[in-house]
Amino acid sequence: MSLNLFDLKGKIALITGATHGLGMAMAKGLGKAGATIVINGNSSREKIDEAVKEYEAEGIKAYGYKFDVSIEQEVIEGVKKIETEVGPIDILFNNAGIIKRIPLLEMEVDAFKEVLDIDLVGPFIMAKHVVPGMVKRKHGKIINICSMMTELGRDTVGAYAAAKGGLKMLTKNMATEWAKHNIQVNGIGPGYFATSQTAPIRKEGHPFNDFIIQRTPAARWGNPEDLAGAAIFLSSQAGNFVNGQVVYVDGGILATIGKPANEA
Ligand SMILES: NC(=O)c1ccc[n+]([C@@H]2O[C@H](COP(=O)([O-])OP(=O)(O)OC[C@H]3O[C@@H](n4cnc5c(N)ncnc54)[C@H](OP(=O)(O)O)[C@@H]3O)[C@@H](O)[C@H]2O)c1
Repeated sequence: MSLNLFDLKGKIALITGATHGLGMAMAKGLGKAGATIVINGNSSREKIDEAVKEYEAEGIKAYGYKFDVSIEQEVIEGVKKIETEVGPIDILFNNAGIIKRIPLLEMEVDAFKEVLDIDLVGPFIMAKHVVPGMVKRKHGKIINICSMMTELGRDTVGAYAAAKGGLKMLTKNMATEWAKHNIQVNGIGPGYFATSQTAPIRKEGHPFNDFIIQRTPAARWGNPEDLAGAAIFLSSQAGNFVNGQVVYVDGGILATIGKPANEA
């Protein structure tokens, strides 16, 4: 097997929500494999510009566009601009997402719908406006960023779990409808990752930190860079016959029910 199978030179990859965090880690992986990177975010132009500088400092060709993945008109305009100014999108990562930690009985319907709009309807809207070009060009890769909550429930994250579980089935349906056009649609499900968001609870002795270390067979948090391999594989010709799968990059946490805290 040749390493060229993983080469992304000449490809344009749009990664939504890649101004920081896991999206940025996956985008950097794709960039280092040769892809031109297009990132998106929604909060501010300044944040996007800062992120673009960070990619370029690592020798990655990058562009940034601001739009809300859950608003169809903004997506239509964003995709049109990207394809005019940068070129045709070969690879789409639906990574932008939000989480709201609220018990279901306390959650307002609007808050529930907002999570579904960004985490589930967003990937549909993005694909709806990127895939017609892929169909014409007869190739494309779509990677939907799922979660362990695609498979598991947990207190307070009902809306997120509903969205990420739905995203798995949307992935399978997209794969079913578009495989005949040589478009491969798959997902990546990250486990618990060391990002700035989890920094406050990642300290030894913190109950949640200790729970994660004890519960994860690999006995550690994931480093964002751990996602790059799966991201490159599913974006490259190495994954040309992989359709409708979710690859969990989770240190094995979904493989086991875990062990009691008092077991040696
Ligand atoms: N962190 C984890 O451990 C973990 C585990 C499993 C799955 N995931 C999933 O991995 C993905 C990235 O997670 P993360 O922790 O890196 O998230 P994050 O740090 O909260 O970053 C989210 C990204 O999405 C963008 N975004 C949010 N709403 C948007 C919208 N409506 N339109 C466009 N962009 C939007 C944000 O950009 P702006 O700030 O500029 O809006 C930001 O770049 C998410 O789908 C998340 O559910 C994360």
